[in-house]
Amino acid sequence: MTKGIFPENFLWGASTSAFQVEGGIHEGGKGVSVADVLSRTHSADYADSSVAADFYHRYREDIALMAELGLRSYRFSINWTRIYPLGDEAEPNAEGIAFYHRVLDELGRHDIEPIVTLYHFDLPQHLEDAYGGWRSRKTIDCYVRYAHTCFTEFGARVRWWQTINEQNLMIRKHMPIDEPDLTRRERVRHQIDHHMFLAGARAIALCHEMLPEAKIGPTFAYLPSYPATCRPEDVIASQDADNLYNYYLTDIHVFGEYPSYYVNWLTEHGWMPDFEPEDAEILAAGRPDYIGFNYYLTYAAEWCPEDAPADYLSILHLSVPGRFRYVDNPYLVATEYGWAIDPVGFRRSLRELWQRYRLPLMITENGIGVREGIAEDGRVHDDYRIDYLRKHICEMGKAIAMDGIPVISYNAWTFIDVVSSSDGFSKRYGFVFVDRDELDERKLARVPKDSFFWYQRVIESNGQDLGEGLE
Ligand code: BG6
Repeated sequence: MTKGIFPENFLWGASTSAFQVEGGIHEGGKGVSVADVLSRTHSADYADSSVAADFYHRYREDIALMAELGLRSYRFSINWTRIYPLGDEAEPNAEGIAFYHRVLDELGRHDIEPIVTLYHFDLPQHLEDAYGGWRSRKTIDCYVRYAHTCFTEFGARVRWWQTINEQNLMIRKHMPIDEPDLTRRERVRHQIDHHMFLAGARAIALCHEMLPEAKIGPTFAYLPSYPATCRPEDVIASQDADNLYNYYLTDIHVFGEYPSYYVNWLTEHGWMPDFEPEDAEILAAGRPDYIGFNYYLTYAAEWCPEDAPADYLSILHLSVPGRFRYVDNPYLVATEYGWAIDPVGFRRSLRELWQRYRLPLMITENGIGVREGIAEDGRVHDDYRIDYLRKHICEMGKAIAMDGIPVISYNAWTFIDVVSSSDGFSKRYGFVFVDRDELDERKLARVPKDSFFWYQRVIESNGQDLGEGLE
């Protein structure tokens, strides 16, 4: 069914992020990021970002493995604190810049297209300590200067840029706000969100000005829902869930202004952020060239009574009184971490985004996190990963062939095992196994999993050979 449907220049790729893969956090003049601190304080039983997969020291070996896998693209992030260790210095850190030049050299040597995220959860800790991080407009200027440095240094070699990874999830999952009063806490969260929108829009406008050939967009966590039943109230509930936690982000970026449903929702709760007079113009001037999104799971949503308990932040159990709450979807099976596996929902997601925005789409993350180990024969038999990826790629193929949707690139999460953003090193996603456990780094040996050899065939055949079991 997938014969001849992927364009010849389709970017088959894989993804990582800096703080999750690099390690070497005390080297090369790097500063401390909030992601480093969170990974350390999250749980004493979990690996932190200090060694991670040790890509900082092994990037040559790892990029050679990428070449062996046949990757056409590698989506990774620049560690903000390697370029500006504190975030507000006058001059960037030359050693950090040199590191990414070496990575880009290596990718270039193997003809792998870099897809670069500027900011993947790793705000400089100093900006948090000195100014309150994204609470302050100072951080917007620091981000834009950092983006300017990256465009200047790497712009000749990087065509695909992403402004901010998963802003919609980051504000609720990776940004603890120490404020007991709910209204005040959520007001702060939405002010932070607003400042990140301004930062993203300014980076997009700057990229268009400095690098007219480049393409830039946000990449967001696409967490769509189905109505739990065909009861009309549940259908509205599902739309509310999708608007308030997903589309508000892409609507603001693509249409250049806050949509009315979002303004009304924020205002109703007393959460509307402060706007400066120039903000409307900034948002309107920073329109993306494409939409990047990360897709892992879907939800079912039902109407939520006004008097139900509220949970505005949960990943799996959002409950927004008067609007919606998530419930289990009896038609889907979940991973051991409770993430509902839904390849058909992936096709629906591609349709929804294309129909709403008419912009090319890029899948920046998609994958399955599991606990796994090396078998007695010395290999990692991850047939569940092959099954997950195959089904998602098959649905993407249908979206391209049958629905006519322009998809630029598919980047599986992850190329290599990394520190999970919430569950340590044991939750693995990679095509390449890293032989370490949470606290014992052992030799960090690389072992390609069965999925590595499967994906190699997928890429070699340009998506025609997805292996057995394809309908
Ligand atoms: C996305 C992030 O939320 O999903 C990644 O962009 C993250 O950084 C990935 O690792 C998987 O989530 P987790 O929590 O299983 O690591």
